[in-house]
Amino acid sequence: METQQEFTSMPRIGDKAPEFKAVTTQGDINFPSDYNGGWSILFSHPADFTPVCTSEFITFASLEDKFKEANCSLIGLSIDGLYSHIAWLRSIKEKIEYKGMKNVDVKFPLIEDITMEIAKKYGMLQPNEDSTKAVRAVFFVDPKGIIRTIIYYPLSLGRNFDELYRVLIALQAADAFDIATPADWRPGDDVIIGPAGSCGTAKDRMEGKEDMDCKDWYFCTKKISKEEILSKVLKK
Ligand code: BEZ
Repeated sequence: METQQEFTSMPRIGDKAPEFKAVTTQGDINFPSDYNGGWSILFSHPADFTPVCTSEFITFASLEDKFKEANCSLIGLSIDGLYSHIAWLRSIKEKIEYKGMKNVDVKFPLIEDITMEIAKKYGMLQPNEDSTKAVRAVFFVDPKGIIRTIIYYPLSLGRNFDELYRVLIALQAADAFDIATPADWRPGDDVIIGPAGSCGTAKDRMEGKEDMDCKDWYFCTKKISKEEILSKVLKK
């Protein structure tokens, strides 16, 4: 019998990504160990052969090279079997055009999870939304296998893949430059310096002794050019 606990366990930001072995459209994978050393995005969709999911797969597959350039692998999952996945991906390639994208080959692995074991481990099943379909969950996992961002969308709402790319680059920039990123940040916008940890630092900052622009002691920014950000995070 299923316990409430199985449905309610959810990994959190900062946790090690729960380990699993899975069958996918690209062969077996061990997650996250096969992806150590690079970033990965593990995402779930409610069901194969559904329209919102189809538009998402066409979009994500068309952007796969851009994510790869940023050292990030994509891995999909739904509570469907392998043959359903294969048939759906074939149909997408052969028959579906979305926003000018057509003949799209989904090359990233799509996990079969008919037992729902992985979906439950990752809190992708949210029974009050739907008890037999995964919601649209997105887990950003860093090169050490740590979950760094989690985003959930309901069944009715297709994801914004520009935002997923923005999140990935912002996480990588935060690590590379030891900074934070403000609202709506995009590469080339000013970045945020961590808050002053002492009265002395606060005073130095307000006296202009550090290379940053402070509106007040706790709100300091600096410029990092788009080129500098992208040269650090993209594999060129
Ligand atoms: C869809 O992808 O179109 C979809 C899937 C499940 C419920 C509603 C819509």
